[in-house]
Amino acid sequence: MIELKNISFGVDDDKGKKEIIRDVSFTVPDGKLIVITGPNGGGKSTLARLIAGIEKPLSGKILLDGEDITDMSITERAKKGIGFAFQQPVRFKGIEVFDLIRLATGKSISISDACSYLSAVGLCARDYIKREVNSSLSGGELKRIEIATVLARSPRISVFDEPEAGIDLWSFKNLIEVFEGMRKHIKESSILIISHQERILNIADEIMVIKEGRLINKGTRDELMPQLMSTDSAVRDCNGVGEKAVDITPEPCSTSALI
Ligand SMILES: Nc1ncnc2c1ncn2[C@@H]1O[C@H](COP(=O)(O)OP(=O)(O)OP(=O)(O)O)[C@@H](O)[C@H]1O
Ligand SMILES: [Mg+2]
Repeated sequence: MIELKNISFGVDDDKGKKEIIRDVSFTVPDGKLIVITGPNGGGKSTLARLIAGIEKPLSGKILLDGEDITDMSITERAKKGIGFAFQQPVRFKGIEVFDLIRLATGKSISISDACSYLSAVGLCARDYIKREVNSSLSGGELKRIEIATVLARSPRISVFDEPEAGIDLWSFKNLIEVFEGMRKHIKESSILIISHQERILNIADEIMVIKEGRLINKGTRDELMPQLMSTDSAVRDCNGVGEKAVDITPEPCSTSALI
């Protein structure tokens, strides 16, 4: 179980202090699949980076199974069982896909074991297992390989930031099945997915909405889906821009149609 307690985070930019995460608290219990959604720029990826230890909060605490991990490094957190798939996957020049998956499992595995993780994300294992993880891979291929490494690691908590990004319709269907398969076996671990996709929201045990750095809503899928699907505030904001002669505020137009 991971707990965020009153987490705040900000950066200094050219306009001064910019608050990105404002007093966010939530728990991801064991055995649950939680989906975070919300408008672009709301702070979702920043939250994922704070959980992984890439960023450190200005205030608040992060607890993993009751242990305070707020000051732990990325490596220490990974060892404790936090697995992370980035919105923009990392390219590791000079390493083969097989080695990447083997390293993720942390033990010696056969090629056929490694292949099973690639197949799970819809990649033909034979074609990819010996490929180098470099810029010759397409964005979608790289994303799927990264997801395969998180599956291989089978961490206490798996964080996927927009796993759907750049993934084709057929592989996406496969990916949903992978997540559904994972949730059946996650009694002692949990999955946190950041997503804008209705089909991913539809498999959540709980949905949390992050907007302007705040947790503005949370509830079960049955409680939140009707609200998310019926709200038209993003559309209304965009229409308003056209009606104003000078006071054009483009920011609301970037909000997700779900919010
Ligand atoms: N290092 C930084 N310096 C300045 N601004 C930052 C920095 N990191 C994040 N931000 C800003 O913080 C806000 C939240 O960014 P974040 O990437 O967390 O949003 P998001 O909810 O993941 O959006 P999306 O749905 O587009 O992926 C954005 O306005 C972003 O520009
Ligand atoms: Mg993001």
